[in-house]
Amino acid sequence: MTTNRTFTMIKPDAVENGHIGAIIDKINKAGFRIVAMKMTQMTQREAELFYAIHTERPFFNELVTFMTRGPIIAAILEKNNAVEDFRALIGATNPADAAEGTIRKLYATSLGENAVHGSDSDENATIEGNFHFSGSTQF
Ligand code: RTP
Ligand code: MG
Repeated sequence: MTTNRTFTMIKPDAVENGHIGAIIDKINKAGFRIVAMKMTQMTQREAELFYAIHTERPFFNELVTFMTRGPIIAAILEKNNAVEDFRALIGATNPADAAEGTIRKLYATSLGENAVHGSDSDENATIEGNFHFSGSTQF
């Protein structure tokens, strides 16, 4: 298993609000190498599978509706200590709690619509990267 990679999505709110370029710039300046990247729109089924761990949570339907309402940018990123460092770069789930200078503090609008996703473990980084880039053996 690769342990120096993470997976991210620029979520529909940040795409709609024109923040793709600024967020990619932050990612590059923080020292991440972009291994794979694409714009795509998740189907309801794909979003339900991607966030399956949250199926029983009260916000699940809202989350699926949000994540499917427009295009996202999906990407695999490489850096030493990628998962932990990327979670630090994006900040807390709720932008109101996110540290100054983090991506969510700068570009998220609410707890639900928080601009970016970041994998929470090496194992999930691999699963999530494969979910969005399956069939791409070079990654
Ligand atoms: P993510 O998976 O997207 O990187 O976010 P996270 O780890 O910081 O947060 P997580 O607990 O995994 O929640 C996944 C996403 O669900 C939405 N959410 N809405 N309305 C709510 O109470 C609520 N709580 C979470 C957010 O979009 C969150 O990023
Ligand atoms: Mg999460």
